[in-house]
Amino acid sequence: MTLIFAHRGSAGTHPENTMESFIAAERSGADGIELDVHLSKDGEIVVIHDETVDRTTNGKGFVHQLSIAELKELNASYKFKTFQSFIRSPKIPTLKEVFEWMRGNDLQCNIEMKNGKIMYPLLEEKMIQLIRDYQYEERIIISSFNHYSLVHCYQLAPELETAPLYSDGLYMPWVYAHAIHAKGLHPNLKAAPDMIIQGAMADGIAVRPYTVNKESDMERLMNIQCSAIITDYPAKAVKLRRKF
Ligand code: G3P
Ligand code: CA
Repeated sequence: MTLIFAHRGSAGTHPENTMESFIAAERSGADGIELDVHLSKDGEIVVIHDETVDRTTNGKGFVHQLSIAELKELNASYKFKTFQSFIRSPKIPTLKEVFEWMRGNDLQCNIEMKNGKIMYPLLEEKMIQLIRDYQYEERIIISSFNHYSLVHCYQLAPELETAPLYSDGLYMPWVYAHAIHAKGLHPNLKAAPDMIIQGAMADGIAVRPYTVNKESDMERLMNIQCSAIITDYPAKAVKLRRKF
């Protein structure tokens, strides 16, 4: 069965990377959530996609130049189109807050470290400590476009699953996955033809393409029993999966 990971929560219907979006994902019947993390000025792991708060909130500036208190003042649905969401004024969550909420469910969580453009000192160490504090080793998949950082995670915590993100076609990417000690691959949908998915899965590597929003793509991947999909529309994917 193909698992369903809700991209930035249920980002197609709710403000991305907010508790509101994660709760909607859980209610839709998704198996997991995907979220993005950065470090605040005072070293808190916060859940937001961009390096700056400009696109998704009513604030301005780089996440790493704002304290957690300053980040918490912002409305994280400021640019989201529904009025209901806007008036509820969801906040930027910390990773700890998401983990606390996960005590009440059995969702998996794919943490994407956004450490490609900005290097966050000790992000890997802090994140791994939090995973261990909550004993979520079996529920977490760590991904990043920064594959050096994934190798660093492996060195710190070989028990954790890592999965490189990539968007260009790789020849036999499962060989690469083994070489960097990854147990999964997270390709852009464009770089995930059936042959590659099946080759990787036959070699023991889980494949979770992103971002799978069209029903025809969901169906193709469910048909070949792809390990998982990452989608903005978990409710649609869950409904479709009933056919398989
Ligand atoms: O997990 C895959 C996907 O989230 C990577 O792209 O930009 O949506 O974080 P982006
Ligand atoms: Ca992401």
